Order: sequence, then C-alpha cells, then structure tokens
Amino acid sequence: MSKYFIGIDVSTTASKALVFDEHGTVIASKGYPHDLSTPRPLWSEQDVEQWWDASSKALRDVLREVSPDDVAAVGLTGQMHGLTLLDKDFRPLRPAILWNDQRSAAQCQAVTEKIGAQKLYQLIGSLMLPGFTAPKIKWVQENEPDIYAQVAHVLLPKDYVRFRLSRALVCDVADGSGIALMDIGKRQWSDEMLAAMEIARAWLPELCESTDVSAYVSEEGAAATGLKVGTPIVGGAGDQPAGGVGNGVVSTGQASLTIGTSGVAYAANDHYAPEPDGRLHTFCGPMHGTWFHMGVMLSAAGSLRWLHDEVLPDKSYDELNTMAERVPRGAEGLLFAPYLSGERHPHPDPYARGSFVGLTLRHGVAHMVRAVMEGVSFGMRDQLELLRGLGVNPSEAVVSGGAANSRVWRQLTTDIMGIPLYSVNTTENGALGAAILAAVGIGRFKDVPTACSQMVHRMDTIHPDSAGVTEYERLYPTFRDLYPALRDTFRALAAFEG
Ligand code: XUL
Repeated sequence: MSKYFIGIDVSTTASKALVFDEHGTVIASKGYPHDLSTPRPLWSEQDVEQWWDASSKALRDVLREVSPDDVAAVGLTGQMHGLTLLDKDFRPLRPAILWNDQRSAAQCQAVTEKIGAQKLYQLIGSLMLPGFTAPKIKWVQENEPDIYAQVAHVLLPKDYVRFRLSRALVCDVADGSGIALMDIGKRQWSDEMLAAMEIARAWLPELCESTDVSAYVSEEGAAATGLKVGTPIVGGAGDQPAGGVGNGVVSTGQASLTIGTSGVAYAANDHYAPEPDGRLHTFCGPMHGTWFHMGVMLSAAGSLRWLHDEVLPDKSYDELNTMAERVPRGAEGLLFAPYLSGERHPHPDPYARGSFVGLTLRHGVAHMVRAVMEGVSFGMRDQLELLRGLGVNPSEAVVSGGAANSRVWRQLTTDIMGIPLYSVNTTENGALGAAILAAVGIGRFKDVPTACSQMVHRMDTIHPDSAGVTEYERLYPTFRDLYPALRDTFRALAAFEG
C-alpha cells in the first residue's frame, strides 16, 4: 500500500511540495520562490507560469527522495482569491491579480448596490471585497477589454497547478467560496451572482468537495513532475481552510490564529451562520456539511518583513527579536497601525495605510520593531473580537505562521489575546492540511477529524502573563481608536496620489 501523501502549497511567496506519512511526519520537502510585482499602488500581481515552474520543480526534487510508487495521493492548497485568466487554448492571458490587490473597490461597490448588501452577505458569506476574485473579473472587463474578450476560463492559483498536473478544470468549495460567485449556504455556483456580475458560468471550473478525488495525474503532468500517471489529486482547499485542517481545527468551538504574510483568525462551524453585516468571511468548510469563519488582516508578519527589508536589511530576524525583547511592553507609547496593504477586517478599506503613531525623540528602531509586532497582534485581537461577536468564544487557540516562530512575538500575542495559545507539529499547516484531505479523499481515514487525530500533534502551550494581559488590555482601546482617527487622512493621501 502506498504510504505517503503530498501536499502542494502554492503560496504567495513560494510553491512547495511536502511529502507526509500517515502520522503527519514530513518525509521530504522542497520549495521555490515566486516574484511579486506591484506595478502600481494597490496592485499586486504574479506571473502564473511561476507557480507551475516552482511546484513542478519542487515535486521533481521530493520525488528523488521518495519513490513515486509510494505516493498514494496529492492534495492542493495555496493562496486564495487570485484571478487567473486563461484563453480558449488554456494560455494565461495576463499576470494573476492576487488576494492582496486592492484595485477593484468601485466594482465591489457597484455589485453591492445592485444586489443589496444584506442579500449579498447571505449569498457570499461576506462583504464584497476587492481581494475577492469576482470584482477583479469586472475590473478586467472595464479596464482591459481586449483581454476580457479572450477569456475562456477562470481559475484560482492552486487550481492552475491542478490543471497543469491533470488538464482538469476543478475547484474545491472551500477555495471556490473566495471567488464570491457561490451560494455559500448551498455549496454551489450562484446563478444570481453570475447574472449580477455578467460572468459566464462556462468560464468557471467544476466544483468539488475538499475531500473528493478531483482528477488524476496525466501523462504530461507525470513527465513534468515525476509523479506516476494516474495518481489521484484530491480537491484540497485554500490556504486558510487547509491550514485549519493542518492545525486540527475541525470542530465547532476550536480556533486558530495564523500570523503569516497575512493574519487570519479562523474557527470551524457545523452550520452556515454568516456575520449579519458581512464583517467576517463565512465560507464552505473543507469537510462536507461544515463552514468556517475567518477574519483577515492583509499585512501581518508581512509588516515585519517590510520593516526588515526597508529599514533593517542588514539585521537577521533573530536580531530583530532581541531588539524587540529589550523594549518594554507598549514600546514606550509607540503604536503601529498595520495596514500596509489596506485592510480587510475589521476595517474593509483599500485606502488604509500603515502608520507609526506616537514617535518621540526617545524612540529608536528597536521600538519600531516591537511596535510593529504589537500592532499586528492587536490587529489579530480585532479578528478574535469579531469571532467572539458571533458567539465563537474559544478558550484557547492554535497559533502558527512566522510570528509563532519568534519567542517574543508569540508571548506578546498570547498576552494581547488573553488566552493560552498552543502550536502543533508543523509550521507548514496548509501543506499538512492538503495532505490530510488527500488521505481522507482516497479513504485512508474515515473522516477529517479521525485523520487529524493521527496526523496533527499538539506541541507546547504558551500561557498569558497576567502583567502582560493587564498592560495590553489598557493599550488595546487606544489601538482600536487609531483607524477611525486616521481614516480620513488615509483617504486624503490616496486622493493626493491620484
Ligand atoms: C484569505 C486570504 C489569504 C490568502 C493568502 O482570504 O486572502 O489568506 O489566501 O495567504
């Protein structure tokens, strides 16, 4: 019996292939980076071919370490929402427009007015946001008519890799939810959304559940990757729902905080209950008959990467951690508003910007490092509060992402949340989740919770420090006041820029 499951993760920064055994142990792992291009303010694009080049190369590498005969199935995960447009010959028509691209605010407003806000939230489980795929299609229609005229297929990033592996045009419901053309409660494309946005149903991939076998590796896919022809490719899920599975967050009441490039608070639910004002995403879950809620910060650990790259390029991240450790809680009155890419929750505003507030002559770069970490974690607390508003009140949560690898950042996050945070046996929770879905998809486990009990292992727990909790509770209201106080300034700056 083939013993391994591969999780392919087409993230914003890299495509990776990880081989897991049925205990969740990583047997082999390889990844290659992607470039990100920001040709204009608010824009974020990526060359579609890079996903295939990087993931096929990563697969070739790991399949030198394990035999393709030992691979029972492949699962896919990756960045959500990215618009990938193909012509009738399946050629990419333009660079993909990514999840953190903010150009389509006008298109979002137009469709919200057309359908009516409350109705829209019920259908798509959220406000219509520029990060989603559908308003980007409208943007292309209105701004790049020559390209629009050639569109024959719309895919999400990981589904482009599925296509290259198998020639199948398929998307799972958990990732498909983020296109914003589904009736989320019914787990199918919504005729009403398609009509309102004048998008042809024929452009969209077939939908499957995350644990369905969606396709099989083709001869061409096998030749490019080293996988065996006919290897099953299971539906998989976007990075957040797959990460939820990889974190073992699969039952109502469980929650996770992922502080990677973006920051996400995530909770599972056994029924469809969208936030009435659309202030969180409620999307189809990666287990049939389940849904999940998530609140998203667009620039989380990405904010520290920005500070590192632009201000402290010669320092290592370990040095940044040491700098932050030496600064007292609250960075001596310096706050950071973490909206470097605009924001999604709880302030859906493409024009929001990053800001340091409270600088004095006493502050140095070490304060800025600590303030960035704290500002991001306060933004995560905002997400947790939205979940609490829905009655999801976790007594603990899984923490993962770049911030979880830093001792100082992990502790201050725990203090800001005020609940214990624990980690699990992987930092690659998306790829592990995709591998778990693959294992369930081919029947190795009876369901996802059973697979998680065998493949996800709880590691260390961090407890809140009571002095830290008290101090951050005192500062949090001041953080919450930042965005409303700065909103008009952000708009004026965007207008200045034209
Ligand atoms: C989720 C989201 C991000 C991206 C990139 O809605 O936009 O998590 O999937 O990580």
